[in-house]
Amino acid sequence: MKNERSNREFDSSDPLKSVNSKNILDSFRYFKGRRYHNLTDVTYLFPNDDKEVERLHLQHNICRFVWKNNFSSPIHELLKSGNAKVLDIGCGAGHWIIDMAKEYPQATFVGIDMSPIFPDVKDIPSNVIFLQLNLNDGIPFPNETFDFVFQRFLCNCVVLEKWKFYVKEMIRVTIPGGWVEFFEFEIDHSDKQLIEAIHSGFKAKGINSSPETCVPQFLEKCQELSKVHYKEIYIPIGDWAGPLGTMMTTYVSMNFETVRLLLTSAWRIDDKTYDSGYDGHKFDFNATNTYLKSIRCMQ
Ligand SMILES: C[S@@+](CC[C@H](N)C(=O)[O-])C[C@H]1O[C@@H](n2cnc3c(N)ncnc32)[C@H](O)[C@@H]1O
Repeated sequence: MKNERSNREFDSSDPLKSVNSKNILDSFRYFKGRRYHNLTDVTYLFPNDDKEVERLHLQHNICRFVWKNNFSSPIHELLKSGNAKVLDIGCGAGHWIIDMAKEYPQATFVGIDMSPIFPDVKDIPSNVIFLQLNLNDGIPFPNETFDFVFQRFLCNCVVLEKWKFYVKEMIRVTIPGGWVEFFEFEIDHSDKQLIEAIHSGFKAKGINSSPETCVPQFLEKCQELSKVHYKEIYIPIGDWAGPLGTMMTTYVSMNFETVRLLLTSAWRIDDKTYDSGYDGHKFDFNATNTYLKSIRCMQ
């Protein structure tokens, strides 16, 4: 949805603090040219504007290119056969779900997100529905509704307790014998101090940014999953790795823009310091042979 409003900024001592208001005009908050959600009980701190949708789009294309498919669960035949129901929670702008719905026109797809950044109605296939909902209120479907429940890039942007709740909800709405699948990225860089600083910045905002919450050991500890399958692919970052590596450099630098407000606020530094020390362009990707680990877990 291309609905950028005027660049109204809240005068708040903490730009990440939501404004509790019933006024519909306050459903977003704006800071330094970026738009954010304005829900008081949600700790998700990435923007939800057109620039963010661009980043999500590139991210989706990278995933597709590298994995050569949209999922790893053994459900291709089921999705082809018709009547299968698929749920994507935290679906964002719906890039995954639209791709899937076109590939499997017989199946029905539901995407849930709190931010109304879904595609224009004319671009939504008839077998897709998007719902603007806060997952903290639970997934609004009865037990055992979906054959396949998918989640990508949410686990390391929310507080641990919420994440555990979302996982339980995902399992609750999956039919016995159905599949749940999780997808995450983890950066592997030789500058461990920097990686640690990023994690501690998220932690200062109450968020566990480590993808260990998306690996079999964690998911099995949620007690509802017992035989989680695991797959990983390393994606190179930097010109040394050809066109993909160059594209990944752009992607990483877009990520640093997405988390700018979160990290400058957590580290209590200004934008200039952020740019000089932590901008993606400053990484020496070529010298370090950096990779992004992409992880899929499914059961
Ligand atoms: C990093 S984006 C990933 C989007 C999408 N899964 C993708 O792969 O392109 C995470 C999404 O989760 C959504 N989200 C975060 N907390 C949420 C909540 N409590 N309820 C609903 N959606 C939420 C955000 O609005 C955002 O669109």
